[in-house]
Amino acid sequence: MLDKKSIRSLRENHLGPSFSVSYEEPLHIVRGEGQFLYDVDGNRFLDAVNNIQHVGHCHPKVVEAAQRQYEKLNTNTRYLDETIVNYAKALTDNLPDGLDVCFFTNSGSEANDLALRMARLYTQSKQTIVLDAAYHGNLSSLIEISPYKHNGPGGTGAPDFVHTIPMPDGYRGIYRGEKAINGYVNEVQKAIDQIRQSDGDKPVFIVESLMGCGGQLVLPNRFLEKAFHLVREAGGICIADEVQIGFGRMGSHFWGFETCDVIPDIVTMGKSMGNGHPLSAVVTTKAIANHFNNGMEYFNSFGGNPVSCAVGHAVLNVIENEGLQQNALEVGQYLMDRLKKIDHPLIGEVRGRGLFIGVELVKDHDTFTPAATEAKIIVNRMKEAGILMSTDGPDHNVLKIKPPIIFTRENADELVFNLTSIFQEKF
Ligand SMILES: Cc1ncc(COP(=O)(O)O)c(C=O)c1O
Repeated sequence: MLDKKSIRSLRENHLGPSFSVSYEEPLHIVRGEGQFLYDVDGNRFLDAVNNIQHVGHCHPKVVEAAQRQYEKLNTNTRYLDETIVNYAKALTDNLPDGLDVCFFTNSGSEANDLALRMARLYTQSKQTIVLDAAYHGNLSSLIEISPYKHNGPGGTGAPDFVHTIPMPDGYRGIYRGEKAINGYVNEVQKAIDQIRQSDGDKPVFIVESLMGCGGQLVLPNRFLEKAFHLVREAGGICIADEVQIGFGRMGSHFWGFETCDVIPDIVTMGKSMGNGHPLSAVVTTKAIANHFNNGMEYFNSFGGNPVSCAVGHAVLNVIENEGLQQNALEVGQYLMDRLKKIDHPLIGEVRGRGLFIGVELVKDHDTFTPAATEAKIIVNRMKEAGILMSTDGPDHNVLKIKPPIIFTRENADELVFNLTSIFQEKF
């Protein structure tokens, strides 16, 4: 077996240098089970950050479904196949009526790219409204609409067809508290007016209903409802990016957009959908799907292959049979309550829904100066204590907690106990 040093050296020689590795002293993880990861020395880590392994690392039912289907057949969507259609039916049964048609893809990025193609064809417009600090994927088309990337290191800014709304952050953003909803809704209206004035186009609005890279940001109450209304009034359409937040993680609802009382025209999903297997999808209405059927075939070599669909179906069954949405609700609430009780001046805001929680650290409660260095130190210390977390937000000052949704109260206690000790001893 290769030791850490050899792996690092091979990585340096044979992996692109822009891949990043977590923690000052990187981990050599060799095994995963449930909400735990194990390193090469047998040390156990409580995983509070991998939302892709949604129902737990190497869940036996998911592994079994993949293996069984692999042994039988793996082709593509060009054949009649009951595994594929049964999964499409089960998936859409979990969505509001009208969102009935699936296009399977292999990553969140691919799903969002396809959603943009559909939306742009349907509206005959490329004008896109996005939230500041949003991330929607790594393809060229998505770097264009992801301020998190195009305004970050190495980025070259937004193209002229992208209209960026200031991050709807009621805590530290440009409109706060009571002024937040109207302030940010007016920004959406301004973007729509600008689009109309320049060439009379319709807007395409893409949004995460609870922002991930934005720092686990809960949008101001009713912001999305009002924004969707304005976009639709202008003849535009709305895409909900559920890549991070879907599949019961919110606890109270299966999808993030449901927590905001909106129904999108197009939904994209990925990450947790295959519990680590590359599986993602665009789900939309019959009208939009039919419009996309303009003579150009849609073919995807791997998207929707029977193995992926068997895996996706197994994930849906596990969420239901093990009551995991309810678990996300109960354990998420318990964890959030305990985090809110940690009394330390660095803690600015604790927020989130279900098992998607952010702890925003600030140096000062008047200036809201982000405490990014402290957040980084905490994440590295937590790792030493055997708990994996990470940071996010445009200023990298938000502690990010998004574990597999099998997380227990005992796991939450372990996390809070260690976090409290680190706050007390270190700062
Ligand atoms: C909200 C959101 N959308 C899309 C993506 C892209 O997904 P993928 O990495 O599977 O391409 C990500 C990835 O982090 C994401 O957070």
